[in-house]
Amino acid sequence: MSLATGATLLAGGSATMLGAASSTMPSLATNSVWKLGGDLPVNRLGFGAMRITGDGIWGWPPDRDNALKVLRRAVELGVNLIDTADSYGPEVSELLIAEALHPYPAGLVIATKGGLTRPGPGQWEPNGRPEYLKGCVEKSLKRLRLERIDLYQLHRIDPKVPMEESLGALKEMQGAGKIRHVGLSEVAPEEIERARKVLPIVSAQNRYNIGERKWEKTLVYCEKEGLGFMPWSPIGGNRGLKPGDALEAAAKAHGASVVQLALAWLLQRSPVMLPIPGTSSVAHLEENVSAAKLKLTPQEWKTIDALAAQGG
Ligand SMILES: NC(=O)c1ccc[n+]([C@@H]2O[C@H](COP(=O)([O-])OP(=O)(O)OC[C@H]3O[C@@H](n4cnc5c(N)ncnc54)[C@H](OP(=O)(O)O)[C@@H]3O)[C@@H](O)[C@H]2O)c1
Repeated sequence: MSLATGATLLAGGSATMLGAASSTMPSLATNSVWKLGGDLPVNRLGFGAMRITGDGIWGWPPDRDNALKVLRRAVELGVNLIDTADSYGPEVSELLIAEALHPYPAGLVIATKGGLTRPGPGQWEPNGRPEYLKGCVEKSLKRLRLERIDLYQLHRIDPKVPMEESLGALKEMQGAGKIRHVGLSEVAPEEIERARKVLPIVSAQNRYNIGERKWEKTLVYCEKEGLGFMPWSPIGGNRGLKPGDALEAAAKAHGASVVQLALAWLLQRSPVMLPIPGTSSVAHLEENVSAAKLKLTPQEWKTIDALAAQGG
């Protein structure tokens, strides 16, 4: 698969093929780098390290060497934002990251999370009790072989624990120098506002992709407030993207895959967008990372946006 054909098409006549004319063109994001928390420059296309564990995000992967290869290749390709969580495996994803990449290259940002426990494969239960969360931070530091975690995200707000108490624990860890920045996951704008009364929040990580835009308001809030927005399942996760024929045809016209088109669409959607596609495959990783090179014209972007909204 090559993007060369796509580039030619982009420079040439693909807009004619794709585009219904419109007077209002979106202004598309062109920045390749975003400063997380205002001080950590990251290339906007990151890597999600959830899929390098065993089935059901449980235990060790069937091919451990391959998982290490995927992580090392991501960094070689210029990825410097890796998302993980203590619950991936559990523990396995963080351990593999340290095994593959420690001592870490300068500028590599590892974003981890805590606040979800794992009763078994495919099962996830929130625990936002302050003492538990403080223990999670300490254990992630050990597994990742770090003195400070650049971005620590509260994986879920625990409905049984007031958010202020959970975040109070993270604030304490930040005060002790164990966390640099704090982010949230699966949150509405009102929840971010409430959290910001406790401590600064630099990012939100919510499920979002070309076909699933339930969290649009959170994205808009992040844009307005200058927070990073890390869409999880940016290429549809377990469910895939289920593209229709029109999206398939649009991808083909760009010499790209639907996954690449979906990632390019995301990256251009907002300057604060930090997609973290996950994979257990070097070939898929290479395909995903090269999507950052695919540039859509405003007309093409708008047409693809509309196609996806109609179910492709
Ligand atoms: N905050 C949260 O609650 C939350 C929840 C879920 C995930 N996350 C984070 O978000 C990251 C991404 O989410 P995700 O893994 O659910 O979804 P995703 O990145 O949208 O999709 C990953 C799936 O797509 C496949 N895939 C990857 N690249 C592909 C390609 N080029 N062509 C075809 N298939 C491809 C992968 O299989 P292969 O392994 O075969 O490539 C995997 O099954 C995770 O790694 C994790 O860091 C966060």
